[in-house]
Amino acid sequence: MLKISDTEEVIFSPELISKFNEIVARYPEGKQKSALLPVLHLVQAEYGWVSTPAMNKVADYLDIKPIEVYEVATFYTMFFLEPKGKYVLEVCRTGPCSIVGADKMMKYIEQKLGVKEGEVTEDGLFSWRGVECLAACGMAPVLQIGPDYTYYENLNEAKVDELIDSLRLKTVEKPQIN
Ligand code: FES
Repeated sequence: MLKISDTEEVIFSPELISKFNEIVARYPEGKQKSALLPVLHLVQAEYGWVSTPAMNKVADYLDIKPIEVYEVATFYTMFFLEPKGKYVLEVCRTGPCSIVGADKMMKYIEQKLGVKEGEVTEDGLFSWRGVECLAACGMAPVLQIGPDYTYYENLNEAKVDELIDSLRLKTVEKPQIN
């Protein structure tokens, strides 16, 4: 995954542009703005998050105003507007999960990882954040983990320990080659 800062200029690769072109071609001429969501997903898949320079480049590419990109990217929580860890623990904090201990789980995760909500652990592996209902209220408390959004249900501290340890181990066993 490419690493960028929020000030660095972004240059989309020819491969990425060609994926954009495929998506834009699905819409009638002059309606290229309709491709904005899938294009932002591709940008996030390439860089891990959606920086301001990347949003500006998307605006250039789609021939729309930067604000039109910002308003979409900031509305949908699936877009990360800051760098994040390889694994993002998203803990449901809505009513049913909250009643059965979501807040306690978030505090526990914060203490275990040693980073506050939205921050990235030093090894670049983990971030966490509270999110709204994940539609698994019957199994509360619940979290999902990106990038593939696997669900972990009926959470407790032991399950969180097991989960984080297994992800660490997985990364040690399969180091990322850049
Ligand atoms: Fe947590 Fe619905 S309230 S999954």
